[in-house]
Amino acid sequence: MKTKSDGIGLFGDLSVKDHRLIVGGCDAAGLAEKYGTPLYVFDVERAEKTAAAYLNVLKKEYPDSTVCFASKAFCCKAIYKILSKIGLGADVVSGGELYTAIEGGADLEKIYFHGNNKTEREIEYALSAGVKNFVVDSERELRLLQKYAGNCKANVLVRVNPGVEAHTHRFIQTTAPDSKFGFSIADGTAEDIIKSISSYDKLHFVGIACHIGSQIFEPQSFEIAIDKMTDFIVKLNKSGIEVERLDLGGGFGVHYIAGDKPLTPEAYMKNSAVYLKKAVAARGIKSPHLIVEPGRSIVGEAGITLYSVGAIKTIKNLKTYAAVDGGMFENPRVSLYDAEYTAVIADKADIKGDKVYSIAGKCCESGDILIDNIVLPELKENDVLAVLTTGAYHYSMASNYNRNAVPPVIAVKNGRSAYMVKPQTYEDIARNDVIPDFSEDFKC
Ligand code: LLP
Repeated sequence: MKTKSDGIGLFGDLSVKDHRLIVGGCDAAGLAEKYGTPLYVFDVERAEKTAAAYLNVLKKEYPDSTVCFASKAFCCKAIYKILSKIGLGADVVSGGELYTAIEGGADLEKIYFHGNNKTEREIEYALSAGVKNFVVDSERELRLLQKYAGNCKANVLVRVNPGVEAHTHRFIQTTAPDSKFGFSIADGTAEDIIKSISSYDKLHFVGIACHIGSQIFEPQSFEIAIDKMTDFIVKLNKSGIEVERLDLGGGFGVHYIAGDKPLTPEAYMKNSAVYLKKAVAARGIKSPHLIVEPGRSIVGEAGITLYSVGAIKTIKNLKTYAAVDGGMFENPRVSLYDAEYTAVIADKADIKGDKVYSIAGKCCESGDILIDNIVLPELKENDVLAVLTTGAYHYSMASNYNRNAVPPVIAVKNGRSAYMVKPQTYEDIARNDVIPDFSEDFKC
């Protein structure tokens, strides 16, 4: 029996069999027993399907295009192995993400190095590793690229701020007028920096990039961005500047709670691609090579997190806390963005409950609540709780706060499971700790 989206808010390819949650053909409670909790579980096929859907839509609607996975959503070697096999490139924003992408087998030609303050070391490393494409966000970066390019020419895209107001959380919105990202189109700084690139003989200006925000539901936000970006191309063309590539970033929204109503990734992509074709035709400009950088929409719904319920505590007439063995160290999104989630008990996944709980994390912070006021069947100690849509910006944003170990990531596919990221031990956490010995050679 397969019950999808059965009214209690199951998303993605999750299913329920005999009340038990199934992910990638594996019994979720069984995974918790086998690997321990807290545990990130990643449904490989689900991510593959979404990635392939992006490519298929573009093949039909806008073949001259590259899909780069936004590493920041979920960065580990295996994800590049999985996605580059399908044909995706990667957007990286740090030396660490770049290293992981290379180790995971990402196609160097399809790596785009973003970031508003790449360090000198990162630029040197990227160029020496063979990265070709840089999305530049400062004048300093142009100088550094020129310094380290050696015998190669670096392809430069300039991150611009088209000033689109996307309806999402303030901190994940990136094109407000006072954003730290990009050069403003409106005040002319974007055009000025682009014009200056011709004075660097090791740099080759290839295009413009924007990213209007994340977890965006309205396709119109992307249409406005396309209008502004293609208007800007017209302006650059008038100044004699060719724009070969247009990078529209990521941002497509996913389901976290039942009220979220995103379009499918295919529908978002098709809408943007068709809109871009029309925008290009209407302005009579040359069709640019399109780059898109979906992160959350590829991996978000492919992930769930499994926890064991520990202490259950009722404050009379106020609320009942059920504490789990995770918290803000493995999911900081609630305290950062007031993010909301859906959860089910792994072996009662389709049973409607009548008890209200606040699911608390184990960190020493009052704000470490994972879900406030969720209705569930009665919870018992050691129940396995599954929080849904945790594949994006969870593992990648995890920390060792309170010296909790970052949970391992298990890949599941066709009823099989294997580590994608192994568990951290206490030794791992303390590996770089040193008790300073001032008697050693310690001259400042
Ligand atoms: N491209 C660029 C240049 C970006 O800055 C981002 C995300 C993406 C692509 C991918 O966007 P996506 O398709 O995942 O929406 N930590 C926040 C999200 C921050 C997103 C930052 N940039 C969160 O947990 O919601």
